[in-house]
Amino acid sequence: METKILYTDVKLPESPSVVKISINDKEFIAPVLVGTEGEKALDIRELRKQTGFITYDPGFANTGSCKSAITFIDEEGILRYRGIPIEDLAGKATFLEVAFLLLNSKLPTENELREFELGILRRMALHEDLKNQFHVYPRDAHPMSILASMVASLAAFYPEKPSGNDESEDYKNYLRLIAKFPTIAAYSFKKSIGHPFIYPRQDYGYCENFLYMMFSHPSCNYEILPEVVEALELLFILHADHEQNCSTSTARLVRSSQANIFAAVTAAICALWGPRHGGANEAVISMLSFIRDNKIPVKNFVERVKNKEFRLMGFGHRVYKSYDPRAKIIKDACHRLLKKLNKEDELLSIALELEEAALHDEYFIERKLYPNVDFYSGIMYRAMGIPTKAFTVMFALGRLPGWLAHIREFDKDPDNKIGRPRQIYVGSNVTSYTPLSER
Ligand code: CMC
Repeated sequence: METKILYTDVKLPESPSVVKISINDKEFIAPVLVGTEGEKALDIRELRKQTGFITYDPGFANTGSCKSAITFIDEEGILRYRGIPIEDLAGKATFLEVAFLLLNSKLPTENELREFELGILRRMALHEDLKNQFHVYPRDAHPMSILASMVASLAAFYPEKPSGNDESEDYKNYLRLIAKFPTIAAYSFKKSIGHPFIYPRQDYGYCENFLYMMFSHPSCNYEILPEVVEALELLFILHADHEQNCSTSTARLVRSSQANIFAAVTAAICALWGPRHGGANEAVISMLSFIRDNKIPVKNFVERVKNKEFRLMGFGHRVYKSYDPRAKIIKDACHRLLKKLNKEDELLSIALELEEAALHDEYFIERKLYPNVDFYSGIMYRAMGIPTKAFTVMFALGRLPGWLAHIREFDKDPDNKIGRPRQIYVGSNVTSYTPLSER
């Protein structure tokens, strides 16, 4: 039997707009939801119950999994946190100010910010038993693996009360996570080079503490450069949230089973790790180094990308179909940082040449592929002395407030439900069991 599906806009008196979907002799009325920026969605929650149909949308490219008031992004290259354009926050706000904004839906007053900062700074040290856990890893362990397992371990040190979902306890856990992430990141680096772990200091700021724990050593003085602190603040702010990306959706999904906050964040870290997502910043540097080490002319490399031998890492985005606004800011900041530090990086020259070649090539123009957040960020991290293997950890440090803001929003959402997609089963029909001796 042929299935006819019709879509028509219909106005009903009690609703500003609905869409009528006719499937054979059944009719489904889908209420239309309109976001504050005019995005339209069909509410299909009753679709299967009423018609027996589900929707098919691999990669969820057309699926709204929730309503969210945290971040708005648009294919034209717009990014706003709680309505504030990223260009207004970058270079003006601090990372912790942005973290407060994402978590609390408003910019903090001076007192609120001081209290928030103190709540984080005094929680930066790790429990000594957790610190000792670093000794079980091999020296060359990937820092994302250490970050994920250490964050999972936090649940053992700060178990949720049996009553669960206590808002003030949850808030303490947000502060704990923001506080302990840089310490875990720095200790995984110290472990890899066999240096002693450095305790955080409450008289240093958040980014200063990270640099201090990463690079200082008991036997010598370490100067925290203000230009590096400024660059770090900027990078963290630019990574702080990006609505329903793979890691954030993962955090929401895991939280939807009512797993604890540490478990949800651990899952988000693991989702971020892959090269299609946060792992791209590490992959960009591998790609640029590969071009340099093998003396591959940029033009030839671009041809190989077009022949689908590999992807141009740090290019393309599911939502942005123009220049990623974060990449624009990072590219300028990258030039500024290298100049201030009086450093040159041949990988930057290759990246600039690659960008130029790609932006003038029909393959990339047609597919609307532009540099994304990961294309230039690694060159900045290199200039700061951060090892390539730790780049995705840096992404995680920046993205953490976003994950937490989404977990908090999910918890407060009256529509929240366990995440449980459907599937279209395409396997064998009922088949009888053949005993082992007869196979
Ligand atoms: N290099 C070459 N071709 C590409 C690229 C790329 N980086 N990205 C997409 N394409 C092509 C792809 O081959 C496809 O071509 P065709 O129509 O001929 O099959 C077309 O563009 C559409 O690609 P898609 O895979 O359907 O797009 P998507 O929205 O599912 O994927 C993406 C988005 C970010 C995973 C993808 O662009 C990609 O793999 N980029 C490289 C990895 C990367 O930089 N990731 C970081 C993303 S931004 C930060 C973050 O989210 O963490």
